[in-house]
Amino acid sequence: MSSRGLEGVVVAETRLSKIYGEQGRLLYGGYEIADLAENTTFEEVCHLLWYGGLPNREQLESLKAKLARERAVHPDLIELLRRLPRDTHPMAALRTAASALASYDEDAEDNSDEANLRKAIRITAKLATLTAAFDRLRHGKEPVEPREDLSHAANFLYMLHGEEPGDLEARIIDAALILHAEHGMNASTFSARVTVSTLSDMHSGLTSAIGTLKGPLHGGANERVMKMLQEIGSVDNVEAWITSALDRKERIMGFGHRVYRALDPRAPILKKLAEELSGRGGNVKWLEISERIQAVMAREMERRGKQIYPNVDFFSASVYYTLGIPMDLFTNVFACARAAGWTAHMIEQYKDNRLIRPKAGYVGPEGLSVPPIDERA
Ligand code: COA
Repeated sequence: MSSRGLEGVVVAETRLSKIYGEQGRLLYGGYEIADLAENTTFEEVCHLLWYGGLPNREQLESLKAKLARERAVHPDLIELLRRLPRDTHPMAALRTAASALASYDEDAEDNSDEANLRKAIRITAKLATLTAAFDRLRHGKEPVEPREDLSHAANFLYMLHGEEPGDLEARIIDAALILHAEHGMNASTFSARVTVSTLSDMHSGLTSAIGTLKGPLHGGANERVMKMLQEIGSVDNVEAWITSALDRKERIMGFGHRVYRALDPRAPILKKLAEELSGRGGNVKWLEISERIQAVMAREMERRGKQIYPNVDFFSASVYYTLGIPMDLFTNVFACARAAGWTAHMIEQYKDNRLIRPKAGYVGPEGLSVPPIDERA
């Protein structure tokens, strides 16, 4: 018996997060996601994932300082990004640069626990820098050097836009990073764990994960959500657009989830942030269109007897767009956040490793013998 898409198959044990798909609950290390999004920062969540508990003040200061010190990337990496064709997808650029990071990491081939923790910090710090640098380079601008005095979230927006963000903007990105930091055995995390289960190194696992996240059924969905919102264009067009897409059996991006059979608990948190942003002079148009889509989808899915609800990508799209993040950079922001979860999972995998090697059910012919080449069709 095979399970299509490995649905329901448990391939590893983890202490990092727990998803209650039926109830729409997500916990990191025992804490409800809403509690974390409301009361912690991305750096605190990194500590929770990497060290198994929330930090006290001293531990937090120490981790923040380490992350901040690791933000700068080797100039060769900036040159590498500079040489890529400008129309390279930012996730492809990040995948390439993430792989190259290994060449400049003295711990690259050291799979010890201590080295892996150092690499987790470096990787998480540097992915944000690489993402912002590539975005500027492809727009003909010079990268902005990271600042050590800002939070991870604020520094990311600073490196992207070249100016310090407001408190609300920084807090929204910080919350979005928390919400995307970890999510059990999703496809990219699985690919990272598969890679390091061969005892390959953490940067190889990272490169696999970024490649996996890039796909439109995983991380790439948020970019496609924004394209959909733009295509719909106004609240009045939502009804016709969504119903005709559903009639054509198309999937509505930002809806549905392999694990959740209820509302993704991250979606309402992002929606609230989107509302705050709009209320403070942001663009309300995208939020209004999103809300209308949510209502039409609720009605249509109920009518069709399907448990399909908005997922994390649905509201993150309009939030990022309103914050001035280019559409095709959305998945990179996801990757910058998920780096925390990927690295934590890889550390778990190394600690209790067994090669991940499932089987395929063979459905081809048997008993054939090789005909001479001239006799083949
Ligand atoms: N819009 C409309 N219908 C959807 C849907 C969506 N976004 N997602 C799933 N469905 C429908 C499927 O067509 C299927 O209908 P059927 O039983 O009549 O064939 C049913 O719901 C179950 O879908 P299934 O393919 O089993 O779901 P899955 O677990 O394999 O896929 C996703 C999960 C996430 C890949 C899927 O929901 C999807 O493609 N969503 C859009 C992309 C997205 O937002 N991804 C980000 C996830 S965080």
